[in-house]
Amino acid sequence: MIKNNLPDLKKARKRNKIETIISEYTKNNKIKDIGLNKKFLIETHGCQANEADTEVIKGMLVSQKFTETNILEEADLVLINTCAIREGAENKVFGELGRLKSFKRLNPNMIIAVSGCMPQEEATVERILKHYKHVDIVFGTHNIDQFLEYLNYVMVEKKSLIEVFSEQGNITEHLPHSRQHKFKAWVNIMFGCDEFCTYCIVPYTRGKERSRRKEYIIEEVKELIEQGYQEITLLGQNVNSYGLDFEDYNYAFADLLADLAELGIPRIRFTTSHPKDFSDELIDVIAQYDNVMPYIHLPVQSGSDKVLKKMNRKYTKEQYLTLVDKIYQKIPHVSLTTDIIVGFPTETEEDFQETLDLVRKSKFEGAYTFIYSRRKGTPAATYETDVTPEIAKERLHRLNELVNEGYATGNKRFEGQTVKVLVEGPSKTKEDILTGQTENNKLVNFKGNIDLAGQIVDVYIKKAKTWSLDGELK
Ligand code: 5AD
Ligand code: SF4
Repeated sequence: MIKNNLPDLKKARKRNKIETIISEYTKNNKIKDIGLNKKFLIETHGCQANEADTEVIKGMLVSQKFTETNILEEADLVLINTCAIREGAENKVFGELGRLKSFKRLNPNMIIAVSGCMPQEEATVERILKHYKHVDIVFGTHNIDQFLEYLNYVMVEKKSLIEVFSEQGNITEHLPHSRQHKFKAWVNIMFGCDEFCTYCIVPYTRGKERSRRKEYIIEEVKELIEQGYQEITLLGQNVNSYGLDFEDYNYAFADLLADLAELGIPRIRFTTSHPKDFSDELIDVIAQYDNVMPYIHLPVQSGSDKVLKKMNRKYTKEQYLTLVDKIYQKIPHVSLTTDIIVGFPTETEEDFQETLDLVRKSKFEGAYTFIYSRRKGTPAATYETDVTPEIAKERLHRLNELVNEGYATGNKRFEGQTVKVLVEGPSKTKEDILTGQTENNKLVNFKGNIDLAGQIVDVYIKKAKTWSLDGELK
């Protein structure tokens, strides 16, 4: 295997004040139609950042005349875009890679590639080199724009290759995209993370926080509007710190959101917000524009001040609750969701009770809940703890019961109301039932013609269930 560059987590932690280089994606004209009569299959794990990256990788493959398949047996190229956030996510990928071994035995020409966050970790790459020798290409999050070069090399030279950079990260503009949806699109507004929450591997795998210049973002959104897109979701690990890295002009997330809202796309969403950077201006912009959706995902992680401090979250329970109050006052119809970790090192029953109390007071209408997972190379990996896996599981169970009440209450408040729904398409189980999302991000099922897919329609909500709403087309 050719090992051009291997990951280095220590190096990936460095943050110098070096300027972000912005470059344009350049096509290598020597690589042409290498996908003719060939099929690819991509399996994407993890967050929306990975889903957005997959759309870029697909765009590159389609530009080379590859076509997509979801049948493993007929794939010439299988790429797994991986997530490193928790051990469970990584184990899934290793399981998948193990399974691919027998497929490759049947089809020795099959190329297997691994991308995303896992290749950014030394331990993962060592494990792949040792136990998964059937993998042909390993590349990380910083060099997606080079993927076709790697693929061409492997196809021509019949050798395997590892190329992972542990740099702070730059920005490549005008990357090709093959978007998953016809009317909903992800738009990256920034990359990386500088928060260094002590449990989290992301600042190491995705590099420093760097914002895209507004001109590029506006241009991308204008194109999406021209193509008939109804909804965009602005993406960043912490969108609220958008623009803080610009040295030459003052332009914050609230400014960007207002400018994009003015362009007139029917729906704008954004994720994820760090509570410490949620400005009053931002709350005002969300309240002011009807096309900025009344839905905020605001990860809290814990309700205990002691745990929050150990997590390096930079706010207290009270500060979080004050922010939540302010949001409810200015945007009364908003829906809030959150992320919570249980079983963080040293978390006691009292700490956990603080979390339950915060959940009750915040009136969350949903939450992603996790058991703390030790990530090698992060500060928390060295913290001692007496939280056993059993205690953590039991806390997760209690937390989920409370969170589910929030889901149900959040849905119930729409019973008897008429809401706007962006129609996704037929539901998975019944052909004549359509499914779609409300402005508050609630799932609605209702009878209707499939031609409505991609349109925003009025739906009367007859009945609220815990996870969805049943409605009737108006
Ligand atoms: N263990 C458990 N959950 C984690 N998250 C991030 N790192 C870890 C970890 N080491 C959760 C956080 C974050 C979400 C995307 O994943 O709640 O907000
Ligand atoms: Fe991880 Fe914290 Fe950054 Fe979110 S804000 S990606 S949890 S380090």
